[in-house]
Amino acid sequence: MPVRENIIPLSDGAGEVVEIGAGVTRFKVGDRVAGNFFQRWSGGEPAADVHKSALGGGVDGMLADYAVLEEDGAVKIPSHLSLEEAATLPCAAVTVWNAMMEHAKLKAGDTILLQGTGGVSIFGLQFAHAMGVRAIITSSSDEKLKRAKALGAAHGVNYKTTPDWEKAAMEFTGGVGVDHVVEVGGAATLTRSFGAIRVGGKVTMIGGLSGGATELNPGLIFARRANVQGISVGSTQMFEAMNRAVEFNALKPVIDKVFAFKDTREAYRHMAAGAHFGKIVVAVS
Ligand SMILES: NC(=O)c1ccc[n+]([C@@H]2O[C@H](COP(=O)([O-])OP(=O)(O)OC[C@H]3O[C@@H](n4cnc5c(N)ncnc54)[C@H](OP(=O)(O)O)[C@@H]3O)[C@@H](O)[C@H]2O)c1
Repeated sequence: MPVRENIIPLSDGAGEVVEIGAGVTRFKVGDRVAGNFFQRWSGGEPAADVHKSALGGGVDGMLADYAVLEEDGAVKIPSHLSLEEAATLPCAAVTVWNAMMEHAKLKAGDTILLQGTGGVSIFGLQFAHAMGVRAIITSSSDEKLKRAKALGAAHGVNYKTTPDWEKAAMEFTGGVGVDHVVEVGGAATLTRSFGAIRVGGKVTMIGGLSGGATELNPGLIFARRANVQGISVGSTQMFEAMNRAVEFNALKPVIDKVFAFKDTREAYRHMAAGAHFGKIVVAVS
């Protein structure tokens, strides 16, 4: 996305309301809130220029002591979460919530395939576990697969040692295929995702961790009667719905590591190294 020059970075953050504008009714001083990734997408379909209101993209982000948020671009955070935990929710969690609930409309007993053990996929795993959806997860690390199983994954596939993981998914589902793939891999994974879904299955296009451009046999889409949808995070209303589920299930985000504000550069390096499992947090003060 185009990022404004000299932007304050980070789309995710949580904190306490210290002041409200005239006419604000949804919040009061002292409320614990998080910003929605898009400051101007409260519900329904997003406007074509929604990206202009992305925190840390079009408008200043959350790596700051104080941030100014739109009233409709903020949500109250679940009461059982610390600010550090709640700060992990706005981008990764809302995105996979949107994919699973709004696009795939998953229900108990369905099967989802999650790629890798980054922020989006680990939230997807936690939501799947909470709602009785069977999760298959891939990773480059057997150690991370073990941790994913402890969080409720039904099956783990190492995509380094089993590069044709779509066949493993097909086998695990008795030759039927999965109902939904949360596609974060991009170039290296998209074709395989069509090989993993059932006829009529869904692929939500979210990321491009292995690159964006790839050659794709379009026949795969009609052969599987696939439903493919690209999504961009989610609305404030989706965030609120997700928070209700997070609270009812007392779900705790998986935090890999918390860095001090002065070590922010180190936090970025840690993310780039890809050794993390779940989310990385910077404690601002
Ligand atoms: N469309 C949207 O609204 C939206 C929102 C959020 C994120 N995104 C995008 O979604 C992607 C994931 O975000 P994230 O925050 O979850 O990232 P992340 O935390 O950085 O995820 C990194 C993990 O992804 C896995 N991975 C890397 N290459 C892979 C591959 N070829 N196949 C399978 N897994 C692979 C690795 O897991 P292992 O170490 O287990 O191998 C890696 O540790 C990014 O591209 C991000 O930009 C898009």
